[in-house]
Amino acid sequence: MNIDRFPTPLFIAHRGYSSRYPENTLAAFNAAIDAGARMIELDVNLSRDRQMVVIHDETVDRTTSGTGRVAEHTLSQLSRLDAGSWFDPQFCRETLPTLAQVLDAVKGQVMVNIEIKPEAYESHGPPDAVERQVLDLVCKKQMLDDVLVSSFEWQVLDNLRTLAPGIALGLLSDLPVDRSLLYWYQRIRGFSWHPDYRVLTRPQVDALHDVGARVFPYAVDGRMDTGGMLAMGVDGLIVDDPRQMTA
Ligand code: G3P
Ligand code: CA
Repeated sequence: MNIDRFPTPLFIAHRGYSSRYPENTLAAFNAAIDAGARMIELDVNLSRDRQMVVIHDETVDRTTSGTGRVAEHTLSQLSRLDAGSWFDPQFCRETLPTLAQVLDAVKGQVMVNIEIKPEAYESHGPPDAVERQVLDLVCKKQMLDDVLVSSFEWQVLDNLRTLAPGIALGLLSDLPVDRSLLYWYQRIRGFSWHPDYRVLTRPQVDALHDVGARVFPYAVDGRMDTGGMLAMGVDGLIVDDPRQMTA
């Protein structure tokens, strides 16, 4: 597998197969692979003891049996939470996986879009600490060619570019493309641009292609006009249901 040889359009399973399985769990990632996804997307936050945990929100309230901020819990405490029953009681055995557990589970089967959440970047610790942690793990697992790291925190991407000249970086944005964003994209030598689909227009897709960007819009709350996006010439879609690729 090599991230430069992705199929077009590339369907990326947002938080795994999140329309039918509890998001960001091993069940959701395995189901996405079974459904034929070539890339999964996941979210990384840090526990109190600075372990990389795969969860979208700043708190555990919405998607687990616990309460409170992720960063207030140790990994040991987080690992004991039920991360599946909120979605459906049949998933009561699902837990919050670490990034290492997900990479071990999917290696060789699918590419991985790792989103570093702003809270992980802003949490206590030295500058670029979470970037180094993610990079060290990806290198240890020998998955640098299979990974695309994205973030709404463009400083995270800038730091990663300094640390790893070859890593693929995706710039997340919910703003329309403008000169400032294009500057950042070129500064980080991005691989792809991940816009909120609601702000994307055909001229913007063209402008992004002009600077060599692959365009992978993301769905919001599962909603996206996938046909309209594909007609605009995007290179892939970040979707909650990877079976949309066969629709
Ligand atoms: O990476 C695309 C998408 O996941 C960004 O938004 O809020 O689902 O993490 P969010
Ligand atoms: Ca995400």
